Amino acid sequence: MDILQITNLQKRFGDKVVLKGLNLSVPEQSIFGFIGKNGAGKTTTMKMVLGLMNPEEGEIVVAGESVTYGQTKTNRHIGYLPDVPEYYSFMTPAEYLIFCGEITGMKKEELKARVRELLDLVGLGGEKHRIKGFSRGMKQRLGIAQALLNHPKLLICDEPTSALDPVGRKEILDILLAVREQTTVLFSTHILSDVEKICTDVAFLNDGVVTMQGRLADIKAGYRTEKYLLETERESDVALLLEACSDCKRIGQTQIEFSEKKHTLFEMVQYITNQRIPVLKIERMEPSLESLFMEVVAK
Ligand SMILES: Nc1ncnc2c1ncn2[C@@H]1O[C@H](COP(=O)(O)OP(=O)(O)OP(=O)(O)O)[C@@H](O)[C@H]1O
Ligand SMILES: [Mg+2]
Repeated sequence: MDILQITNLQKRFGDKVVLKGLNLSVPEQSIFGFIGKNGAGKTTTMKMVLGLMNPEEGEIVVAGESVTYGQTKTNRHIGYLPDVPEYYSFMTPAEYLIFCGEITGMKKEELKARVRELLDLVGLGGEKHRIKGFSRGMKQRLGIAQALLNHPKLLICDEPTSALDPVGRKEILDILLAVREQTTVLFSTHILSDVEKICTDVAFLNDGVVTMQGRLADIKAGYRTEKYLLETERESDVALLLEACSDCKRIGQTQIEFSEKKHTLFEMVQYITNQRIPVLKIERMEPSLESLFMEVVAK
């Protein structure tokens, strides 16, 4: 089942048309990467899913219920981390989460246990300092804990890693992977390597519509080439291979590329074995998400 389904979503600001009929299906239990350039309309889409913005056209269904602009009923299924989360910075993380839980009417004992569990999950368990002194990464992690307080079926994060260094980014990605047990995760980003690391499903937003979406493995398989990468241990063996195989192309000091058009993989492996060439790896070359994105965006 899809936890979120968007059909024909349209939105304009003045005479600027941002969304031109966006369709999106987010399957339950997925980690869904919503990919688009700056200004593509990712935040606008998310705000409409939360009922905070009024679409011109289209339907949004969350956990089987239609979203209505200005009403928050469907938001009980959703946890949301905005692109720039704001806090009462004089509080400690535990105080802040308890404050948030009390507002939403959570019971005291349940709330205390949930806060402890979530602070541990996001690596802020022992943190006694006020939010005021937190790094960006710590604030994002606290924001994820806040968004998960009410056991949402869908966690929406708006560019959770964009402003972070590689360590901070990895921490967030690890948390998103870990929470997959509890909820479906939808996050927007333009950092394609993050998507490759953790996403099961992706959608490319370009020029107001979703131009491609589906399971990441299926999308990649659909664009798989018949090219292989071969890496040798010794640089001198590269020349040998280039001589023997007219279709081989050098792509690095110790790396060549070949396609199966002229020499099958087995012929190559046989040649390597006969010549006793030490090989570090042979692998089928997968298209990177980056190359797919460029292809989709350039169309
Ligand atoms: N309230 C608004 N009034 C007028 N224009 C807006 C408003 N909100 C968004 N826009 C415009 O709509 C377009 C899409 O904006 P949006 O913030 O949804 O993009 P985004 O994909 O989230 O970009 P980013 O990666 O920079 O966060 C942009 O051109 C933006 O200027
Ligand atoms: Mg945005």
